[in-house]
Amino acid sequence: MNQKSLKKEKRVRSGTLAGKGTDQMLSRYVPLQAEVIDIDVESSNTYLISLRPLDEEDETVRLDYCPGQFLMVSVFGLGECPISIASSPTREPLQICVREAGKITQGIMAARVGDIMGIRGPFGNGFPVDKMKGRNVVITGGGSGFATLRSLINYIADNREDFRDVTVAYGARTPHDLYFTSEYGSWQAAGIEVGITVDMMDASWKGNVGLVTSLLKDINPSPGTAALCGPPMMINAVAKDLVSRGFLEPDIYISLERHMKCGVGKCEHCTVGHYHVCTEGPIFSYDVVGDLL
Ligand SMILES: Cc1cc2nc3c(=O)[nH]c(=O)nc-3n(C[C@H](O)[C@H](O)[C@H](O)COP(=O)(O)OP(=O)(O)OC[C@H]3O[C@@H](n4cnc5c(N)ncnc54)[C@H](O)[C@@H]3O)c2cc1C
Ligand code: FES
Repeated sequence: MNQKSLKKEKRVRSGTLAGKGTDQMLSRYVPLQAEVIDIDVESSNTYLISLRPLDEEDETVRLDYCPGQFLMVSVFGLGECPISIASSPTREPLQICVREAGKITQGIMAARVGDIMGIRGPFGNGFPVDKMKGRNVVITGGGSGFATLRSLINYIADNREDFRDVTVAYGARTPHDLYFTSEYGSWQAAGIEVGITVDMMDASWKGNVGLVTSLLKDINPSPGTAALCGPPMMINAVAKDLVSRGFLEPDIYISLERHMKCGVGKCEHCTVGHYHVCTEGPIFSYDVVGDLL
């Protein structure tokens, strides 16, 4: 984080849907400018981008968000798309992890340090961390969906005493597709059990090979709450596995990704059944969306 910006007075923009402040309404409809302050390459097609949101006077604005919420990120001349917040609210700076998919994500990834992009939000409900407190937590992700889970993992690592046994089970296609590899050690140091697997190994890989569900077999987590994000097939398989281990469907929280336009419940682009992922999600419990996946 830029030292000069830290010294500036920080304004807070709230992501609480129940909030009624002018700032909160503005942040949902009017994009803030955000300066790119750092870029880390997570894999050949995925960047972790650190942002400094700015107000009209170029002062830093601190976003008030919770793990699992997302931003509408815009690139001038290209458009905007939903991107999960990959950082934890317990840490600075604000970060997003972007995987190249089409023209907007390519535009975001073409940005360099010092460039400006637009952000609206934060949007969505986020993971119900208060309901997870005092309980076991299993966090399971596959593919690019792991970005939104990193926010939750680092939030738990920073509030570790509030949670019981915490397990991360993460799978990627190949070792080169694994994100946040430099952070696994700090999660373990915080008392979080970390299991990693890949579908296809290479000569450098000494770890597990197989589906995320094979990790759960080894870990054998005790029932509690769960947070899942990833491809629908993976989510279904993991949710069924957890239910067979005694987890209750309402305690299994799933982050859904759907195409979005407005982010505020008006355009119907993001519907799953009769739910709007942008306003009623993106986090749903398995008993609510299990049949719709
Ligand atoms: C809540 C949420 C959080 C997200 N978080 C992240 C994140 O953290 N990081 C990240 O990289 N991405 C994230 N995404 C996904 C990202 O928003 C999409 O990939 C987005 O479409 C990228 O825009 P694009 O212009 O780059 O690609 P697009 O041109 O939109 O193409 C992306 C893919 O979607 C297909 N596609 C395009 N339009 C449609 C349509 N109408 N229906 C079905 N398929 C279509 C394309 O063929 C292509 O395979 C998130 C999405 C949601 C809803
Ligand atoms: S994105 Fe428009 S209704 Fe959800």
